[in-house]
Parts: sequence; structure tokens; C-alpha cells
Amino acid sequence: MAKHVGILTAGGDCPGLNAAIRAIGKGAMNTNMRVTGFRDGFRGLMENRTVVLEGESMTGLLTLGGTILGTSRDKPHRMPVNGSLKDMTDVIVDNYHRHHLDALVCIGGGGTQKNAYRLAKKGLNIITLPKTIDNDVAMTDISFGYDTALSIATEAIDRLHSTAHSHHRIIVVEIMGHNAGWLGLGAGLASGADVILIPEIPYDIQLVANAIHKRVQRGRNFSIVAVSEGALSLKEHKILNVLKARKEEARAQDKRKLMRKIVADLADFEENRTNHTLNLARILEELTGLEARLTILGHLQRGGTPSATDRVLSTKLGTACIRLIKEGVFGVMIAVQGRKVVPVPLEEVVNKRRIVPLNHAWIESARSVGTCLGDCR
Ligand code: F6P
Repeated sequence: MAKHVGILTAGGDCPGLNAAIRAIGKGAMNTNMRVTGFRDGFRGLMENRTVVLEGESMTGLLTLGGTILGTSRDKPHRMPVNGSLKDMTDVIVDNYHRHHLDALVCIGGGGTQKNAYRLAKKGLNIITLPKTIDNDVAMTDISFGYDTALSIATEAIDRLHSTAHSHHRIIVVEIMGHNAGWLGLGAGLASGADVILIPEIPYDIQLVANAIHKRVQRGRNFSIVAVSEGALSLKEHKILNVLKARKEEARAQDKRKLMRKIVADLADFEENRTNHTLNLARILEELTGLEARLTILGHLQRGGTPSATDRVLSTKLGTACIRLIKEGVFGVMIAVQGRKVVPVPLEEVVNKRRIVPLNHAWIESARSVGTCLGDCR
């Protein structure tokens, strides 16, 4: 009998999701499997909202942005239901069996890998694909979506260059990436930003102003400051580390009330940072005497058609997925390591973050071409 494969996309969307769905759908058709999509991530599986993925529905997907399945950030164990968060894991497990699924493919970033792992531990045949423009999923060299976002952010900064130059301004450009600097560093490097601030290197605003000032002295009275959304000043970095250490301590001692208080403090910390790139632009204006403007690239970075590299990657991972399902390999994420596509056990993926190592070649190259990284070594 044909194997029945379920598929869902969860977390933020990104270019390449439909290319991966297509690769799985077409690969399945050629392998005597049938595929059912679940809408809006884990929520669709909980609510039995399905899409049949076969035949004509598999055409025209390779170049299409977003996800035809829809997505959500809802977690099986903390699902908003009738105004409160409920653990819907058992309903999801029941529905998996009710649909007679032989496997469930979960496509997503770090959060999705964790949620998928929880379901794998409940005995479901889970297999995952890594996608994210942040490129921060552990155990894989690359996730699809990143290459496209990198090109979009680079082109945007290229365009900001000419207007910054014409008006003799500082342009601060905020780039996505969550708590990892891959997108900010990559786009900053590719576009020749004068300053690049990433979460991995806490910055000193005075050193950034000094670097801009030095450019002015060399007759360059404009600057591009590429800032990852998660970039932290030295002061913010210190506060965050103290809060995180206190949270770990409270967790280890099982002090729940204290934990709740620290979680609230962490939320306040994030809230206070809402306008941090705008504040950064204002402070640089004061410190340098140059006019500054802020551009937030935002969701532009996640929209639209995938790059050729992402199409190839999504297709490679999607077809490997079908092969592994056929072989009965489950509880794994399909990763790229070097030149190989390999299954990595989900327990090795979860609870890790892939951030930019301080000795990464891109950091060395940025410093070598004179880019200020906020520590201005
Ligand atoms: O994880 C992808 C990402 O685009 C991050 O870079 C960003 O922090 C976040 O998602 C934005 O999420 P949302 O679309 O839910 O606002």
C-alpha cells in the first residue's frame, strides 16, 4: 500500500518553502507515496485542516515565495485555544494516527525542530528540513531562505549607499536575523557597509562614532551602518547576561516565582529595545554631527521568489527527505554538512543555536577591509 506522508511548514515563512514542498510532492508521486499538507503549521494538524498535494497542485511552485500551506508559530504544547494556551500534543498525536500517516515532515527553523522533536518522542515518525533566513539552525551549514534574504538585504544596502552619499548622511539599516549575525554580517560584508553590528560582538557606540568621524576626516562624509536586529550595546549585553544567569540559577533551584519574575524582566528588556536602531541613529547623529536616517528592511527580506541557490538547496533536501522516508529513517533533520546531505538526530539539533563564531573568516575579512564591528579592533 502507498505510504502516506504528512507535511507542514511552521515558524516564519521564507523563500524556498514551496520549492521544498514541490520536491517532496513530486518525489512522492514517483515513489508510490501520497502526500497530505496540513495548513498553518502544527495548528492545521491539530484542527485537521488539510490540502491534498498531488498532480496539478505541484506545478508552478519552484519559484513561488512564501508557503502554499500557510504557517504559524503555534507550538503543540502551548497552543492558543479559546483565549488560553493549552497543551494540544495528544490531539496532534491522535490526528496523526487518524490520518494513517506513515511519516510527518516538519519544515521550519530552530523552534520547529524543537516542537518536531517533542512529537518524535511521542512515537511519531518525524523528519525535518531546516529553513530560516537567520541561518541559525544548529548542525547544518546552511538553511534554505538565507541565500535569498542575503541577496535582498545586500541589494537594499547597495541602494542606500547612493542616497547616503548624495545627502552626506549616516544611514543605519536594520537587518533581520533574530539573535544571530549571519544575515547582518553577510549583507554588510557583501555591500561594503562601513560599520557592521552583530549580536555576537557587543558594540561601544563611541567607537562606532569614532570610526564614522575618521571617515569624515578622510573626506567620506557619509556612512552605512548595518545593524542586526539582535545587536546589543556593551551595557545591554551585560544586563542580558546577568538576567540569563539569574534565570538559569532560579531554574536549577526550582524557584518558580523567581523564574516568572526574571522572565517578565527579560520581556521588559526586549520591550525597551523596540526602538533600539532608531535610538542608535539618534545617538550617532549627536556624536558625529552628521544627519542620520534609519531604514528597517523587515519582512521584505523574507518575501518573494527564492534565489537559484535556495531552489537547488530546497530541492536537494526535499528529495533526500523522500529517500530517507523510503528507508524508514526518522527522528532526524536533513542537514548540509560540507558537500554532503546527511540525516542528523533531532536531539543533536535542539537546544543549540548556530551563531557566528568570533574567529569566523567573514569577521576576519570585515576587519581586514577596515569595517568597524563596534569594538573597532
Ligand atoms: O526567524 C525569521 C525572522 O524573520 C527573524 O529574523 C525575525 O526576528 C522574526 O522572524 C520576525 O518574526 P515575525 O514575522 O513573526 O514578526
